[in-house]
Amino acid sequence: MTGIKSAYLTTGLVTAGLGLACQSPPAVQPLDADSLQDPAACRACHPDHFRAFSGSMHAYAAEDPVFRAMNAKGQRETGGALGDFCVACHAPVAVALGLTTDGLNLDEVPAHLRGVTCAFCHLADAIEGAHNNPVRMADDGVMRGGLRDPLPNTAHASKYSSLHDGSKLDSAALCGSCHDVVTPAGVHLDQTFAEWKQTVYATDDRQRGNSCVACHMPGRDGVTAEVPGVSLRRVHDHAMPGVDVALTDFPERAAQLDAVQTLLDYSLIAELCVIEQSGGADIELYLENVAAGHAFPSGAAQDRQVWVEVVAKAGGRTLLEVGVVNDDEPLGKDPALWLLGDVMYDENDEPTHDFWDARRVERSFLPAPTPFRPGQPDYVNTHVPRRYRIVGPPLDLVTVRVRMRAMGLEVLRELVVSGDLDPEVVSRMPTYTLAGSVLEWSPATADLRTSPLTGLMVPCVGVQAPPVAQ
Ligand code: HEC
Ligand code: HEC
Ligand code: HEC
Ligand code: HEC
Ligand code: HEC
Repeated sequence: MTGIKSAYLTTGLVTAGLGLACQSPPAVQPLDADSLQDPAACRACHPDHFRAFSGSMHAYAAEDPVFRAMNAKGQRETGGALGDFCVACHAPVAVALGLTTDGLNLDEVPAHLRGVTCAFCHLADAIEGAHNNPVRMADDGVMRGGLRDPLPNTAHASKYSSLHDGSKLDSAALCGSCHDVVTPAGVHLDQTFAEWKQTVYATDDRQRGNSCVACHMPGRDGVTAEVPGVSLRRVHDHAMPGVDVALTDFPERAAQLDAVQTLLDYSLIAELCVIEQSGGADIELYLENVAAGHAFPSGAAQDRQVWVEVVAKAGGRTLLEVGVVNDDEPLGKDPALWLLGDVMYDENDEPTHDFWDARRVERSFLPAPTPFRPGQPDYVNTHVPRRYRIVGPPLDLVTVRVRMRAMGLEVLRELVVSGDLDPEVVSRMPTYTLAGSVLEWSPATADLRTSPLTGLMVPCVGVQAPPVAQ
């Protein structure tokens, strides 16, 4: 990784750990090299940024017990060959400062130098690649951001940077640099940045263009610093919810959970049609990713579990039940189950949950819209259909909902068995229900529509999908 280990970072450091400026009034002295690395030193002037960041997965990246467990297991099983691969993204400043080489001693690294910190993002001045954290950090102590005319302040110098300006597509390279993982064996595991580049959002067209920041750091009007003289601006939310939440006690956990649920609630839409056949019926279900600027799921999709629960009834009898699991129950295997997420395969082509053993990955996801039009050869259909065949009398009730876990319970239980993870953590993994996908079909609630697949007029509920392009 990076040319981060600069003179600036290595001077004055490792006096560490003194949660500075927390309670004090805005500093009148410029922040020294060490304080500049400490999110707590930003709090006096940027309290909202601090609060949102402190509950984010960026703050949690090196605290995450699952991260620590997986890294520990990986180091053991590869005899240390994993090296700084994992910590280079999860604790980039600690690696740059030479405070860890393998992430096994994170408890000895001062807390404010763990995780993806304020200073890491705001000192970034060049991106020298497209994955595995190729971020170069400046050694001048100047905070880069999206403000073109920042008010001068006593704590630090400021500078405009297009890498940090969410209205510029350039800014996706900053986020994408870590949100794209290629393993030492060459497997392209997390592909969020690569996926985004293929979507309609990766365009300079102001109507459609959306950087990662545009979606993940929504703005509100306010002041960006609690100091006299600042003007009203767009303040960007730093909580950056996705799917994960802290699995241990951590600041802002309830707020983060809420933000994740809200994001997921509008991520998908669904349509459900029932086509009566003699002796049974076909249930046609369409899912569409309407809000994510990349595949759904994306990122650490090898750990994700997204599945569709379908229950169909006739005269009080259940004719189909698939994907029904309690929140604390692992997902069983069922060939009828519609499951999204990546599966890694090892060198014997057996499924594995261990990154370092992965030799290939099989993907299953809902694509994001691309600029291609129906009829073009590389057109991507974003209405993904699935059919369920039912045998029995005419259906009177069909319910559907998409459910999701940031990580399958199987993955976590394996880490408990290997002695790397506290079992308590497993019980804190939330199981989400995505509101946009919750449907209830009955002959009374359905209306007649043209089935996108067959062209027949059939009773449907949900958000109508346009016809499938041939
Ligand atoms: C003494 C108060 C103070 C402290 C402490 C402080 N800042 Fe600032 N910061 C400001 C002011 C004032 C601005 C300009 C705000 C404006 O013009 O709206 C600013 C602007 C910024 C910007 C935007 C730069 C741009 O051009 O877009 C970033 C990024 C930033 N600060 C990060 C930090 C970080 C990280 C810390 C902690 C290491 C920190 N600040 C500590 C007062 C402070
Ligand atoms: C993952 C990277 C990342 C981290 C971590 C991060 N920021 Fe930012 N921050 C950004 C980006 C990107 C913007 C610019 C958004 C824009 O202008 O479109 C920004 C903007 C800002 C601004 C300018 C005002 C605004 O809201 O646009 C301030 C001040 C700031 N951040 C402070 C902080 C502080 C303080 C922390 C830690 C407590 C922090 N940031 C952590 C990426 C980050
Ligand atoms: C230094 C590498 C790095 C950079 C740069 C970075 N991230 Fe992250 N990001 C991470 C890591 C590591 C995590 C996950 C931490 C965890 O869950 O243990 C994460 C988590 C997230 C999540 C939550 C994912 C989930 O499943 O909940 C979102 C959303 C996110 N980042 C968006 C961004 C955006 C937007 C930017 C650019 C402004 C950005 N990141 C820049 C490393 C980075
Ligand atoms: C058009 C809006 C949009 C854009 C652009 C966008 N995202 Fe997202 N992102 C979402 C939504 C909505 C979700 C929640 C649904 C989901 O999990 O995919 C999400 C989820 C995520 C997650 C959680 C992973 C998961 O399981 O899906 C990560 C990580 C992430 N985004 C990072 C990024 C990065 C990095 C970029 C830029 C390269 C980016 N996003 C661009 C809207 C967007
Ligand atoms: C190139 C940067 C990078 C590297 C290298 C990397 N990660 Fe991550 N990691 C991320 C990002 C970004 C996320 C958030 C993506 C998301 O949530 O979809 C993440 C999320 C996670 C999570 C959160 C749980 C989840 O699945 O959402 C765990 C655990 C994790 N990584 C473990 C590891 C381990 C162990 C290694 C080394 C074998 C590793 N990571 C290497 C960037 C990286």
